[in-house]
Amino acid sequence: MNTVSIILKKRDGRALSEEEIRYLVKGFTEGEIPDYQMSAFLMAVCFQGMNHDETVCLTREMKLSGDTADLSGIHGIKIDKHSTGGVGDKTTLICGPLAAACGVPVAKMSGRGLGFTGGTVDKLESVPGYQTAIEEEKFFDLVNSNGISVIGQTAHIAPADKKIYALRDVTGTVENLSLITSSIMSKKLASGSDGILLDVKCGRGAFMKTPEDAEELARMMVEIGNADGKRTMAVITDMNQPLGNAVGNALEVREAIQVLQGKGPEDITELSLTLAGLMVYMGEKADSPQSGYEKAKEALDSGAGLAKLRDLFQGQGGDPRAADDPELLALSEYSYDVPAPRDGYIESLDAEKIGIASQHTGAGREKKDDDVDHGAGILLHAKTGDSVRQGDPLCTVYSSDKESLVRIGEEALSAFAFSDVKPAARPLIYKIIGDGEEK
Ligand code: URA
Repeated sequence: MNTVSIILKKRDGRALSEEEIRYLVKGFTEGEIPDYQMSAFLMAVCFQGMNHDETVCLTREMKLSGDTADLSGIHGIKIDKHSTGGVGDKTTLICGPLAAACGVPVAKMSGRGLGFTGGTVDKLESVPGYQTAIEEEKFFDLVNSNGISVIGQTAHIAPADKKIYALRDVTGTVENLSLITSSIMSKKLASGSDGILLDVKCGRGAFMKTPEDAEELARMMVEIGNADGKRTMAVITDMNQPLGNAVGNALEVREAIQVLQGKGPEDITELSLTLAGLMVYMGEKADSPQSGYEKAKEALDSGAGLAKLRDLFQGQGGDPRAADDPELLALSEYSYDVPAPRDGYIESLDAEKIGIASQHTGAGREKKDDDVDHGAGILLHAKTGDSVRQGDPLCTVYSSDKESLVRIGEEALSAFAFSDVKPAARPLIYKIIGDGEEK
């Protein structure tokens, strides 16, 4: 077998055998197949696609490229939650504590930001002192005692994905259904939970631009998860505009705290309750998603969710006072309010453009090894459907680089489209898939 013939076969639109996929994944993970050949292969997949069996096989081989975490030392039914990536998506910081407050153990391995999309690990590291790399024994102890721990993905889980994703990120090969499915499901299946809840984003700020494509992705991942013996469900949710008002690491932690204090924006509160409700249902602490939602809402209203966030911070060396006093979190020294250029309604707000503008403030990475500026980002003051008067602040840009503020403000402004008439409201949650629970 040789790599060039496999690339040619895919380039010409033919299906690969299991042996060929295994050869490719193993060879690349072990460093025998160079980046340039893997890049050519990935681009061929983007043009020609992979069929169902090839996708299942690719997922399995990537999962088997590393270890499978054994979480049996953690009591209870562990439900993992994963978002396909969005802008302003801080739901893990909200639904994790809410599910934990309802008795579902949350043992979560999260990632860093990728491209214009944010990552939970970067957000949590904006809490002073918070450690995302801790010993496995401590991880287990924290989940058993506090009900929740969130750490960074360990290197031995799906190493093939780590290498392939880094390459996809810089070769324009992220947006492919089979590549996304295998990337997400290989690490989720290896990370040892009993069930998986997927938040599949669709729209301008997501890798899947339409609800139809997002549904195809969701169905594929749900099928692969269930076939591997893990109860898997997916929620298809809107990512045309950012979720909530805050985009950027510490800004998003501040907003998560506001939500858990009952003072957060409606969209992020609603989605977090839906996700938490499904985790509670899948973790068998409620007998329907609706009853799970109600339990999650009680945990929000009683402050039990906020108490779990405090435990999460404290358990991992973070300052627990930050859960009550968001002012303790970083905020960049310089800020700039972007004024509305006219009266009218916000017709749309492009999540990808806001994500890229936020990346330029220093909140995201331009290159893989860049540090992020935890206090930087964008705070939105108006979203789709809101009416504004000329000169009203549309958003505030935060950055440590004073010189870049106005330029980034212009980038952010280009994300807003205006209209004289109020646009029709879009749904936030399109569909729930899996477990016979289709809505
Ligand atoms: N998130 C992942 O982990 N992988 C992808 O390919 C896309 C989103």
